[in-house]
Amino acid sequence: MDRVIIFDTTLRDGEQSPGASLNSDEKLEIAQQLARLGVDVIEAGFPIASPDDFEAVRRIAREVKGPIIAGLARAKPEDIDRCWEAVREAERPRIHTFLSTSDIHLSHQFRMSRERALEEAVAMVRRAKSYCEDVEFSPMDATRSDREYLYRVLEAVIEAGATTLNIADTVGYITPDEMYSLIKGMFERVRGIEKVVVSVHCHNDLGMAVANSLAGVRAGARQVECTINGIGERAGNTSLEEIVMALNTRADVYGLTTNIDTTQILKTSRLVSSLTGIPVQPNKAVVGSNAFAHESGIHQDGVLKERSTYEIMRAEQVGYASNNLVLGKHSGRHALRVRLQELGYQLTPEELNRAFVRFKELADKKKEVSDRDLEAIMADELRQTTETYHLDLVQVLCGEPAIPTATVQIRTAEGQVRTATATGTGPVDAVYRAIDQIVGLPNRLEVYNVHSVTSGMDALAEVSLRIEVDGRTYHGRGANTDIVVASAGAYMSALNRAAATIAAGHGRPALAEATV
Ligand code: KIV
Ligand code: ZN
Repeated sequence: MDRVIIFDTTLRDGEQSPGASLNSDEKLEIAQQLARLGVDVIEAGFPIASPDDFEAVRRIAREVKGPIIAGLARAKPEDIDRCWEAVREAERPRIHTFLSTSDIHLSHQFRMSRERALEEAVAMVRRAKSYCEDVEFSPMDATRSDREYLYRVLEAVIEAGATTLNIADTVGYITPDEMYSLIKGMFERVRGIEKVVVSVHCHNDLGMAVANSLAGVRAGARQVECTINGIGERAGNTSLEEIVMALNTRADVYGLTTNIDTTQILKTSRLVSSLTGIPVQPNKAVVGSNAFAHESGIHQDGVLKERSTYEIMRAEQVGYASNNLVLGKHSGRHALRVRLQELGYQLTPEELNRAFVRFKELADKKKEVSDRDLEAIMADELRQTTETYHLDLVQVLCGEPAIPTATVQIRTAEGQVRTATATGTGPVDAVYRAIDQIVGLPNRLEVYNVHSVTSGMDALAEVSLRIEVDGRTYHGRGANTDIVVASAGAYMSALNRAAATIAAGHGRPALAEATV
């Protein structure tokens, strides 16, 4: 097989990144984009972990067409059964079950003998197989396991019906040479190996996840498990964009292809970053904001004369626009629609109207509206939930010396208009306190990020944040040339999400009495 199967686990292992919890709408949105990106398998979640996880996997299985939809299950009957319930309606479902094979895990964590673990693995693969043709088995901590024992387990689960064997470097410990020899050894020593797909799943604790995955591929692995932007537990997982672009750019070395539409990479990276609230470091390979920027004079001179002097990939290959068309205040609705279409947005007339209003507001403040600005506006507009609370006005007084003070006016869905004033440690804190006085939904601000979408004094500020309400987390986003307004918008969108969930019966409603 000369194609590498791309198994995306952004929604499962990626969501295990500290602070990256996503709700089911957000997971579905990412899954739809992963399908457009062309991944072969989407690991949609861990259905037994919580009712929310189960629901998200089930929705993705029902609604996302194209990729195989996998759910994760420990090697336990209740996990396998729950996983099957969640994925069964997918066009192509997969059950992914796992059990540790290393002595460290078996003796200290699972308190299980090697023989017992082998029997459990076989029994659970059989159980999964009784539901689903497509069964993946992962020996957890495989890279710190005794080789002889590991190969014995793999042989036994192939016999039990596993169709993919996934070698997990759970703690990011292996080196590329060792990974090569481990996978090569499987092909030489494990009976029945030719019937299954061999996969690698690497963590990045020593910064070698991509190199280890590529070493596995060179030894014969044909599935790589990875996440967008490399997010994941601790230091993260193999980054999808890096593995795909390495295979693509160095086809001379690997001689392998993937099904990925590389022009969707940037868009997917930005979506995941915006919904998880995890920023992409500027020097991140492939998708960092500096990945295609040439700063040194010598490099700039070379690139201007001939791009290939200092560029091994073209920015357009990963989704940067090939032309630098910018819109301005004289651009009309037609130009906006065409540009948005080129950027991949198919809008209804109503959505276009809303986008046009936002565009005009921005164009009045900024001379040039770039593609990044348009994407920020669209991210804001398309992700609006039903507004229980609409922010009509926000005003702040701040400075040095001054007591930061904010006044807000909010309209409820029933048409009530309320005004509140509050002071705080800074203007954003004051605005949030004023909003809280009206909305009255006790919450904790867990994450708050602000960044400028483009360079320049008139740049659009994008704020993403996460709040926790009654044990559930809600993300919010806002974009505006005024940081305080963007912050207020982000907070309102998170509160509106929380209010919508509460209205759907998952919490308690609230509208504070204490208003001015
Ligand atoms: O890192 C790991 O071991 C895992 C398994 C569940 C595949 O994520
Ligand atoms: Zn993992």
